[in-house]
Amino acid sequence: MKVLKYKNYEALSQAVAEKMVLQIHSKPNSVFCLASGSSPLETYKCFVELVQKNNVDYSQCVFVGLDEWLGIKPEDAGSCHYFLTKNVFEPLNVAPENSYLFDGLTKNPAAECQRIKQAIIENNGIDLIIVGIGMNGHIGFNEPGVAIENYVHVVDLDSVTQTVGQKYFEEPTLLKKGITIGLQFFLEAKSAILMANGPKKADIIQQTIEGKITTAVPSTIIRQHQNAVVMLEEAAAGNLVE
Ligand code: F6R
Repeated sequence: MKVLKYKNYEALSQAVAEKMVLQIHSKPNSVFCLASGSSPLETYKCFVELVQKNNVDYSQCVFVGLDEWLGIKPEDAGSCHYFLTKNVFEPLNVAPENSYLFDGLTKNPAAECQRIKQAIIENNGIDLIIVGIGMNGHIGFNEPGVAIENYVHVVDLDSVTQTVGQKYFEEPTLLKKGITIGLQFFLEAKSAILMANGPKKADIIQQTIEGKITTAVPSTIIRQHQNAVVMLEEAAAGNLVE
């Protein structure tokens, strides 16, 4: 696992966006799995700009959302559905058949897990997965103590996630359960990027890179990935030994 550091959030975002474009150049029908949230927000802006400026042909790419809050409407501005639609799919006019997002209002979460799992399998797996990191080390909604062998699953959200997750919503919102790509798909993705910015993430990044590998801190599992890179703003790398 490589660790790369960048001076500021803009440089980090640009670098991750460039890796996304390189991925398309090396495989035009790449399958991307994308996180929502503050960390990749600027990356997606840079990606859209790069793609448009350089006429990158992404028409064969498939984009899969990493996770969703169960019980939250797709049109709620705090949903992952809304985030990826507004920041990636609409600006790029991604064809509906090339985009897969969880339905937070599903009446049948198990079938929803199966739908997304099947879509990934039918597209021959994930080529590049881009994840952020929770204050508790979660990846997607794979919370502390998660089982590694899940492909797509429903989770009870950790209390840290329930509290921190309020930042995405205009009003206090009950966030009890989530639906997420599991660590098994994460580990099987042909490449993985974990990105983090800001000093608040420095402790959990240090645990991720220097602590014991354990599902109690799910992000540590990235060290078992064959082709992963942790891309950090310097502020988030501040506690690392090197
Ligand atoms: C979002 C997701 C979460 C976030 C993480 C960090 O789709 O999967 O795991 O990546 O909670 O969130 P931010 O980037 O807002 O600090």
